[in-house]
Amino acid sequence: MENYENGQSRRSFLNWLLVGGFGSLAAATIYPLVRFIYPPELPQAVQNSVVAAKTGEMPPNSGKIFKFGTKPGILIRTKGDEYRAFSAVCTHLQCAVQYEESRGDIWCACHNGRFDLSGKNISGPPPAPLEVFNVAIRGEEIIVSKKG
Ligand code: FES
Repeated sequence: MENYENGQSRRSFLNWLLVGGFGSLAAATIYPLVRFIYPPELPQAVQNSVVAAKTGEMPPNSGKIFKFGTKPGILIRTKGDEYRAFSAVCTHLQCAVQYEESRGDIWCACHNGRFDLSGKNISGPPPAPLEVFNVAIRGEEIIVSKKG
């Protein structure tokens, strides 16, 4: 009788150990898969201003793509010698826009979208204007910053 109870107790302990082991193995296998399929959201690097160019680097009627955080921006020196800056991400399907010197406007080559020098969408498929940035000149640096 006593042996039977010990055997029963040993068996239930081994069952518990086996189930626990398989459970741990399943958790160790499934958890990385779930984290891979649903990765945690990473906070966007917050960058509110950047040195986009040096003064004298850009002639009038030219544009320059610069990196603003994880996205491109475009700095334009107009024919009238003003600096303007926008997000270079087209509002249609997120292609990068460029300054078109011959027309003096901003062009998206993907689907022939156009924006004027205030960032307003003026032709083609872009449904909204480009995001407009502030431009300030400090010493030899042209600093672009987000509005607001
Ligand atoms: S992505 Fe710019 S016009 Fe389509």
